Formats: sequence, C-alpha cells, structure tokens
Amino acid sequence: MSKILILPGDGIGKEVINECLKIIDYFQAKVPIEITEDLFGGASIDENGMPLTKDVLDKALEADAVLLGAVGGPQWENLEHDLKPERGLLTLRKELEAFANLRPAKVFPALINASTLKQEIVEGTDIFVVRELTGGIYFGEPRYNKKVEGKRVGANNLIYNEDEIERVARVAFEIARKRSKKLTSLDKANVLEVMQLWRDVVTEVHQKDFKDIELEHLYIDNAAMQVIKRPSTFDVILAGNLFGDIISDEVAELTGSLGMLPSASIGKDKAIYEPVHGSAPDIAGQNIANPIAAILSLAMLYKYSLNLDNISETIEKAVSKTLDDGIRTKDIGNKNTVTCTEMGDKILKNLAKIDSKEA
Ligand code: IPM
Ligand code: MG
Repeated sequence: MSKILILPGDGIGKEVINECLKIIDYFQAKVPIEITEDLFGGASIDENGMPLTKDVLDKALEADAVLLGAVGGPQWENLEHDLKPERGLLTLRKELEAFANLRPAKVFPALINASTLKQEIVEGTDIFVVRELTGGIYFGEPRYNKKVEGKRVGANNLIYNEDEIERVARVAFEIARKRSKKLTSLDKANVLEVMQLWRDVVTEVHQKDFKDIELEHLYIDNAAMQVIKRPSTFDVILAGNLFGDIISDEVAELTGSLGMLPSASIGKDKAIYEPVHGSAPDIAGQNIANPIAAILSLAMLYKYSLNLDNISETIEKAVSKTLDDGIRTKDIGNKNTVTCTEMGDKILKNLAKIDSKEA
C-alpha cells in the first residue's frame, strides 16, 4: 500500500489540504493509501521549536510522497533564518533530493477573464516551468548576514555543478518531448560565469540526446518581458532555483490566479506536492481560500508518484467542470462566490459523477 505523508503547515495550507483529504477519502475504496498527518512549518515551531523535526523528516523519507499545504506567517518572520518555517521547506526539499520542481500554468478557458492581460494575449497559454530546486543560491555556501570589520555584510552564493544542471535539464527535455517539443532555458550567461556553465550544459544535453526538441536560450530579464508579451508561444521553461522561483509566480499570474497552480517536486524516488501559493495569512481562517491549486497538486501526486493517470485525469476534469459550471472562489470571481469548503464539495460531487460514468 502506498504511503503518503500529509503536512498541512500554516495559514490556508490547512484549509486547502482539508479539501484534498475529501478526495483521497473518496478514492480510498479503489486505491487504498496509508495516510499520516503531521506538523510542519510554523505549526511545528510552536509545538516543537523547529519547523521540521527529525521525526517528521524520517516519516517523509519513508513515505512514497508528501502532500504539503503551505508554510509561514507574520508571527515567525523575525526568527533567525535557520529557524524560520521556510527553512523547514528548503530542508525537506534538499533531504528528499526533490531537485526538479514542476509548475504547470495553464489558462482555463472558463477563467480567461481573470487574467490581468488582454484575452487575445493569454488565450491558449499553457506553460510548464521546470525549476531546479535543491541547488543554486538557495543552498550555496557561504551564506551569512554578519559584521565584518565593523560593517554589516550579507552574502549568498550562486553555485551549480554540471551534474546538477544536467539532471534537471534532462527532466525538462523529457517533459518537452511529451508536449510540443519546445524548451526555453533561462540564464544570465552574459554576466554570471555560473550561468554560462548552465547554458553550456543545457546545450550539450540537447546536442547529445534531445535534438528533436527546439531549444531557445533567453536571459532572465528578457524572458520576464517576453512571457508577458507572448505567453502563448512558450511551452516548457527551464530555470535555476532563484530565476525559476520568480518566473513561476509571473507565469502564475498570467493564468489569473496563483490559487489555481499546483506543483510537484520530483527526485530520484521521492516527491513533494504542494500548491504554488503560500500560506496567505491575510485570508487564513476565513474559509475563502481557493483549494484548486492543492487539489491539482494531489492530481499530480496520483500521476507522478502512484502512476494512476486515470485518477489524476478524473480530478482534473472535475476541476474544469466545476469552473465551467461557474463556481468561483473569491480570488477568481466577484459575485456569488463560494467558500473553500464549498468549492471542495462541488469538485468532489463532479468527480463522483465523472468517475461513475467512466467506471
Ligand atoms: C516557492 C516559495 C518558496 C521558495 C519559499 C516559501 C521558501 O516561494 O515555493 O516558490 O522560495 O522556493
Ligand atoms: Mg516562490
């Protein structure tokens, strides 16, 4: 039986994960899964004094996959970096070696008006960001914010070796091969040596094994502009940890709401699934969050970790159907909006209908 560790985390993380649990529960009869739930992020700091305990990390290492809500909030913002909720997330990614972060951003036809861009620009946009997740400036040493000879100095280190670049590039090329065979790699090779290495390695992997894929290199600053100008011409975007973090939020906004976007962080044999959005302390506890990003992350879990493509597609169809029905949470609608719980229930209802038709 597959084992899944659920870490709701903080803020709206708990609310959106609740809606996922209903769906997991629905499929228990078909595909039994062993579920364990634990504290993570700020919730774990309050209880245990640290964002990720050894015990929870061990459970994550034993599980087939981790489903995560979100971490962070103002009450933990002033803690030292190593004790912040975010550090727990980074440690979890690193320890599970979840090096390839997959962030699909698709414009749902029913939501085309939710985008801040003109309809004719965003129409047809379907971008798949592959972000390197366990290296680069997030983890480079030395890192500090300290006094050096009487002056405060801060430093982080953007460092990649060729193996780290190659393994994530391969994941991105493989995904491109299953989609429209187009990959755009982002760097800053005109200024940073490490990014020249990035470009060189991506080019070599392309030449060696992926000549059937159309490869484009863009500098990150230009890419930030092009993505707004011609979003529908992009397909797979490959980027390092920091550039990928930034571009994925930008791409998310194209689709109308960050509340819609799922992610999977894949390693050799472990994976973490989480919505791209954060813990949103400003709306936490009000039952108005959009659970779709979390629910679509669960769909990715069924697909990538459990190889249950059917279930994954049924969940995606149920989400689309619910949006087609005009059901909207506050972030994507303005009148007659539903709560987080209601959105979850509507999706579940549609899911049961679709599932019974297909069975
Ligand atoms: C993300 C988030 C995280 C990151 C934070 C919460 C550590 O922004 O998953 O994109 O920077 O990776
Ligand atoms: Mg981010």
